Amino acid sequence: TTIYLKDYTPFGYLVDSVHLTFDLADHATRVTSRIAFRPNPDATDRTFFLHGEDLTLIRAAIDGAEITPDVTETGLTAEVPNAPFIWEAIVEIDPGNNTALEGLYMSNGMYCTQCEAEGFRKITYYPDRPDVMSTFTVRINGDLPVLLSNGNPSGKGKGWAEWTDPWPKPAYLFALVAGDLIAHPGQFTTMSGRDVALNLWVRPGDEEKCAFGMEALKKSMKWDEDVYGREYDLDVFNIVAVDDFNMGAMENKGLNIFNSSAVLASPETSTDDNFERIEAIIAHEYFHNWTGNRITCRDWFQLCLKEGLTVFRDAEFTSDMRSAPVKRIHDAIDLRARQFPEDNGPLSHPVRPESFQEINNFYTATVYEKGAELIGMLKRLVGDEAYKQALDLYFDRHDGQACTIEDWLKVFEDTTGRDLTQFKRWYSQSGTPRVTVSEDWADGVYTLTLKQRTDPTPGQSEKLPQVIPVAVGLLSPNGDEVRPTEVLELTEAEQSFEFTGLAAKPVASILRDFSAPVILEHDHTDAERAFLLAHDTDPFNRWQAGRSLAQDTLLRMIKHDAAPGADYLDGMLTVLRDRDLDPAYRALMLGLPTQSELAAALFESGETPDPMAIWTAVETLRQATAQHVQDLLPRLLSETQIDAPFRPDAEQAGKRALGGTVLYLTSRLDGGIKAAEEYAAADNMTRQLTALSCLLRAGAGQAELTSFYNQWQHDRLVVDKWFALQVSTATPEATVDVTRALTQHADFNWKNPNRFRSVISALAMNHAGFHRPDGAGYELLADWLIRLDPVNPQTTARMCSAFQTWKRYDAERQGLMQAQLTRIAETPNLSRDTTEMVSRILGA
Ligand code: ARG
Ligand code: ZN
Repeated sequence: TTIYLKDYTPFGYLVDSVHLTFDLADHATRVTSRIAFRPNPDATDRTFFLHGEDLTLIRAAIDGAEITPDVTETGLTAEVPNAPFIWEAIVEIDPGNNTALEGLYMSNGMYCTQCEAEGFRKITYYPDRPDVMSTFTVRINGDLPVLLSNGNPSGKGKGWAEWTDPWPKPAYLFALVAGDLIAHPGQFTTMSGRDVALNLWVRPGDEEKCAFGMEALKKSMKWDEDVYGREYDLDVFNIVAVDDFNMGAMENKGLNIFNSSAVLASPETSTDDNFERIEAIIAHEYFHNWTGNRITCRDWFQLCLKEGLTVFRDAEFTSDMRSAPVKRIHDAIDLRARQFPEDNGPLSHPVRPESFQEINNFYTATVYEKGAELIGMLKRLVGDEAYKQALDLYFDRHDGQACTIEDWLKVFEDTTGRDLTQFKRWYSQSGTPRVTVSEDWADGVYTLTLKQRTDPTPGQSEKLPQVIPVAVGLLSPNGDEVRPTEVLELTEAEQSFEFTGLAAKPVASILRDFSAPVILEHDHTDAERAFLLAHDTDPFNRWQAGRSLAQDTLLRMIKHDAAPGADYLDGMLTVLRDRDLDPAYRALMLGLPTQSELAAALFESGETPDPMAIWTAVETLRQATAQHVQDLLPRLLSETQIDAPFRPDAEQAGKRALGGTVLYLTSRLDGGIKAAEEYAAADNMTRQLTALSCLLRAGAGQAELTSFYNQWQHDRLVVDKWFALQVSTATPEATVDVTRALTQHADFNWKNPNRFRSVISALAMNHAGFHRPDGAGYELLADWLIRLDPVNPQTTARMCSAFQTWKRYDAERQGLMQAQLTRIAETPNLSRDTTEMVSRILGA
């Protein structure tokens, strides 16, 4: 069944309070609920339907009198009074056999929950929808040392604990954790002087990996006070690390639950990328306390209301803690790698979808990352001051409510007087707008003409023009900035902007700071790109010039078998030589578009991408670059060595990133001699893993691979890296065999989502290996998706997106992928999650 945004109606009843008692037992946990309902004056439909799935109902009563409700697979209905009443129920559930990791489940002997989006209905009968908010009191009876739930502790004894959450919340924010856990404590005093006890709860053995996460939490709390004026609102804030978790983390009120990979960190076991990601996710979940929890979503169509805004806020936080240009570049790389394929393929959907079958399939890069870009555009259009006023109004006006995108836009309209009707199309139109640039220079007037168009997407054949903020600056031919950045508002299908008072035809730097999530089509020559790479004052566009130069170079190599051009190679030489450039930024400049992005670019220019030709071009360009810059490499290797003790900050991480790129180029020339030395000397995971990766890519490193495993086999997060690295560094010919062999490894515990992804997602991401011409990559992926689906539908469905680009490729490959998609679709009892994904990908 498909659910539509347009069908929204409020629930017939309000909930005044919820009391839950859990009697924990691995296979027969009893959940006793006592819920105060009253008729909702704003609703007309008085059907009393409570969601419930996989529950055994033991007893139900209304106002103390036992009743027999109508129970189906999805819930129950009952006759209720037309006045306030108390609902009581006892249900039994089986957390020990809950492999879907949704609702109450077990991970390594520990009880934990995941309720967003619709998992609470697997715990007890309830109106499991975000617009039903209530206070909760939870009593946990269980013979485990640590018993946690939302809110503040309100009682405790041997074998029990009680928690009271004074803030009304929807059921998706409910959480419970029980287990043998150790606390890493911390403390924070809020801006109004309230003391908050912080705890990061981990399994015994993980105590040494807590310090970084705790510091990140404190920084997040402080930042949200300083920048958004948001203060924390409970006496305690708990974070728990869980090994078996379908996603990154979850913002349950006062009790955030994290995938252990998204919170546990130490220099020996975590890379710089891990540290940065952990800091961002901790901030993200913490920021949800205001954007998500205090103000939540009316229905799941409004998911971007909390996710887009919270991703935007965590990006601002990372920019402030680290380097703003580097963060912006990372975000653009990520958007192009994950969101553009979604927006421009069969899974395309608006930031605010209008229908779904399974909401878990809409926790997407479009809702999250494009959703965050919309906030960034809004901020750029109204300005920093107005943005701040609008946010203050939002918090003021909507605290305690379940809201919509209309509510969100209204606070901007009310504070600025701007009409956001056209801007709202960003929320309803799917697909990535393309902006084409043409220029004219006559009589001292420079005219920039911008055209926008969005190709049709599934269900949307007509597209209307959107409001696109295009940040532009102009450089004179000798490289001076003659016009600083200004934001042009492109609102028509085609619009011209004139610049006067210029002495010579300028070079335009367009879409500075990646001011809109669009594809810019600007036919610059290599020389113009090289000019911008050397002179642009906007760090994003300077990087972009290098990236475009690389892409154009690679496309010419692929299409015309051309040799790598001098503009690119000399440009890289100049970048590497420039000691004034931040090392992190230099490392980014040396990056290349992914092979999948190159395939998309070829497809969009009317060519059929050949994965092997793409792979070869990338290898050739890497080799040519290594040779071109080889004289610089030894000096750069020594300049990027760090004598100081390890710090996971932006400065050291940037140096290590540049060092890693230099080591990689070096190992292309020396076969891995330097990398082996680096590996032996490595005293942190970034260095160790980088060196191992360089060795493997150079066709060496088998001894190091074994010793790495022996050194780290006790640490599941490092073993995940060991699995993933082998698949990601495999050659196109070997990828499938390497993957298959790893799935036979004793440590390949495929029911653990992190381990499953470390191997199977790595296969899907190894472009040339996955797209092996005989279809063996497709078949292996499908085999595993079919196997995982009955165990964990959510993770299976998510990974189906590996097939979303199938129509880009040649008829042979399309046929092979279609056959695997059909095989998955025809699997008996396929989950609703996977069924929806596969049928959308097939375009059925
Ligand atoms: N709200 C969580 C977060 O963004 C993620 C929840 C994902 N839930 C899901 N069913 N996929 O922080
Ligand atoms: Zn979130």
